[in-house]
Amino acid sequence: MYKQIGILTGGGDAPGLNAAIRAVVRTAIGEFGMTCIGIEDSFEGILGETHSVNLTTKSVSGILPRGGTILGTRNRGHFVKVVNGKQCFAEIPISEALANLDILGIEALIAIGGEGTLLIAEQFHKRGFPVIGVPKTIDNDLAATELTFGFMTALDIATEALDRLHTTAASHDRVMVLEVMGRNTGWIALQAGLAGSADIILIPEIPFSFDSIVRKVQAREEQGSRFTNIVVAEGAKEVGKGEIYQDQEAVRLGGLGSYVSNHVELLTGKESRCVVLGHLQRGGSPNAFDRMLGTNFGACAVRALANGETGSMVALQAGTIVTVPLSEACANVKTVPVDGQLVRTARDIGISFAAPRESKLAEPARFEARMTNN
Ligand code: F6P
Repeated sequence: MYKQIGILTGGGDAPGLNAAIRAVVRTAIGEFGMTCIGIEDSFEGILGETHSVNLTTKSVSGILPRGGTILGTRNRGHFVKVVNGKQCFAEIPISEALANLDILGIEALIAIGGEGTLLIAEQFHKRGFPVIGVPKTIDNDLAATELTFGFMTALDIATEALDRLHTTAASHDRVMVLEVMGRNTGWIALQAGLAGSADIILIPEIPFSFDSIVRKVQAREEQGSRFTNIVVAEGAKEVGKGEIYQDQEAVRLGGLGSYVSNHVELLTGKESRCVVLGHLQRGGSPNAFDRMLGTNFGACAVRALANGETGSMVALQAGTIVTVPLSEACANVKTVPVDGQLVRTARDIGISFAAPRESKLAEPARFEARMTNN
């Protein structure tokens, strides 16, 4: 049994991080009699002079509903670099980090983060240092777990934004475009679009054409709906084109919402406005589900370490928390299945993904014609 474990949070923050930290500390101390060291600012905190803090049940008291992370986080730094437009892990200063962990008396590590953080955590495991990963990301794009905490809160925020855009779109007969996060997956856009009654959803998994968007706007117009709500995932792509970046050097997606809004205004003659939801999706208090999931993941991660596991990640599968090898967890990005239930349901209820195929078949128009005739 370990006497002292370390905990860190890495990557973009997500609602539920503090819930997970609290659960780790309370379980480690209360259930297993360990002491807990918080490493600050992700893996950066175990380099150089090191930055760490002793965590007690008192120091984590009251943090459950708080957004962000009390430990700080980084999604850039010594461990993650951008080279030629791609993130990579060249020059990982792992020997220095391991030596510092030894000096701090940390015998095992719980790393809470997304794909990047978990890939780094795996390197520690490969060097023989005990580590358990805890998945978090608002993008919900980790393959080995059905859900990551942060996602459901982001979804609530995006859905509320759509509800609000709905009334102003209808009042002004406008096309409103909401750009949401999600990196190269469309989970937030798709599910917020379904929950918030979008008319068109653009996701990275289904390349879109403006022809198809225009047809949908016109079909709605002919039907008497003079406004249209479009949700755009930041990583969605026009057929034959690449993603749009607000910062190509830093590989930061963003800008597709305005691109779509400007084109739609030009092509349809209708007024259009774009809203970029941005980091509002990540900030603030986690919803009840993310508090629950963060707490469950945190407690189970400590239990896994105490049971002698290493090189694993806690994951939600079929309603149960299990552990999976970190290598499996990081192997693939979980994208939206284009023939899956969610996409089918969206199409069933008349939502367009603006795929060129949809425009040729004029599916939205046919759907609405059928509805009007019945
Ligand atoms: O991975 C989480 C995420 O919020 C993505 O959805 C988004 O593309 C990215 O992080 C934004 O990163 P930053 O905080 O560096 O702007």
